[in-house]
Amino acid sequence: RRLVVLVSGSGTNLQALLDEIGAAGVGAYGAEVVAVGADRGGIEGLARAERAGLPTFVCRVGDFATRQEWDAALAEAVAAHEPDLVVSAGFMKIVGKEFLARFGGRFVNTHPALLPSFPGAHGVRDALAYGARVTGCTVHFVDDGVDTGPIIAQGVVEVRDEDDESALHERIKEVERRLLVEVVGRLARNGYRIEGRKVVIQ
Ligand code: GRF
Repeated sequence: RRLVVLVSGSGTNLQALLDEIGAAGVGAYGAEVVAVGADRGGIEGLARAERAGLPTFVCRVGDFATRQEWDAALAEAVAAHEPDLVVSAGFMKIVGKEFLARFGGRFVNTHPALLPSFPGAHGVRDALAYGARVTGCTVHFVDDGVDTGPIIAQGVVEVRDEDDESALHERIKEVERRLLVEVVGRLARNGYRIEGRKVVIQ
């Protein structure tokens, strides 16, 4: 199976996928990363891809007259690599109709909170501010909402009294990276069905 991974930052989730595939082998894992895309340049996530010898692309919203044109261009850039599965690993943009028309049902996102709690760009900060005693991460299919698609898997992380946002986020990311690697491998190897809000992995 062919994976295209979308990043916006440090790319440690991408790195976890690359490390696992490198260690297990493409055959055993069931998938390989064929390209990495981003909404901005100069980020560590792209540097990780380049170090792995992977093709990369950047699609900046500001380079397009409308959001819709950006969305279409992103879809084109992803489609050029003929992915079976697209993985948003810290990609911080909301895709639009065209992207979802082409990749809906095979576009997975990882979010650093237990959806439906704390969706959006500040899930870690929001859980901390709310006083949640547990939070975690969610791997889900992307639908036309923000972090609202069918949930595939979740991991729970305790919130500690001394936590600040970055300490909690780092602890969440340890769970998140393992969860993403495990889920993407299972989706790739076993195939899956989405039935309403349920995801059935064969
Ligand atoms: C991840 O926790 C992701 O859920 C959130 O931002 C973080 C990205 O981390 N949206 P990285 O870029 O994979 O290191």
